[in-house]
Amino acid sequence: MLEVRNLRAGYDDSQVLFGIDLDISAGQVVTLLGRNGMGKTTTVWSIMGDLRSSGSIRFEGREINRCTSYQVCQAGIALVPEGRRIFPNLTVRENLVVSAANRRKAAAPWTFERVLEMFPSLGHRLDNFGNQLSGGEQQMLAVGRALMTNPTLLILDEATEGLAPKICAEIWDCLEQLKALGQSILVIDKNIAHITRIADYHYVLRKGCIVWKGTSSELLSAPTIQKEYLGI
Ligand SMILES: Nc1ncnc2c1ncn2[C@@H]1O[C@H](COP(=O)(O)OP(=O)(O)OP(=O)(O)O)[C@@H](O)[C@H]1O
Ligand SMILES: [Mg+2]
Repeated sequence: MLEVRNLRAGYDDSQVLFGIDLDISAGQVVTLLGRNGMGKTTTVWSIMGDLRSSGSIRFEGREINRCTSYQVCQAGIALVPEGRRIFPNLTVRENLVVSAANRRKAAAPWTFERVLEMFPSLGHRLDNFGNQLSGGEQQMLAVGRALMTNPTLLILDEATEGLAPKICAEIWDCLEQLKALGQSILVIDKNIAHITRIADYHYVLRKGCIVWKGTSSELLSAPTIQKEYLGI
């Protein structure tokens, strides 16, 4: 579904990614792991068309590198960004509806009601503004907003960073439910216990290069990789 080859990107004069190769098959949950500043968000921005990059990014057989972020969204990739980036001056309802304006056709489209079924607590906050929500509510809203575009691939950059354990559990539950529905997911997170439970495959980044890749059981039985590259 997603094939990234020899992806190189950076900011101004500093190169950050030095030839990333990454594959996601339909229905898979794949992670991008690594310590701070290793290039995870830069990889995601490159895929989303928010950052100029060289190399190939093929999505469902079509080259999408050099597409605008709008075109990438239309192609079927949605992002839950690091820091959530909820629209602060729109209500919960408006935050959800606004992304539905860009929605793609889908066999089982996401609706307002389905998002509220997934995250019932948002239902009590529909008329609250984005900046009145807790971090957990904002993250649920960011996931809901992404789902409203009916993505084929959902990307979460720091899925549970800074959230209380109860909220983290809700987000992981949500991702499990989405996986059961066949949703393909690329997730960045630092919680190895949760991430190895849900993910099929992992890529570890160090200084803009993939230094390790493997399954959850391979990662769990590789303490040196965890220590050296993830700081666990
Ligand atoms: N807008 C920017 N301008 C210049 N350099 C940047 C910019 N954003 C990130 N960088 C640099 O690019 C490198 C990779 O950053 P990136 O945000 O991709 O890492 P990350 O793996 O997502 O880290 P974290 O775990 O902290 O989110 C870092 O050295 C960072 O300082
Ligand atoms: Mg990041």
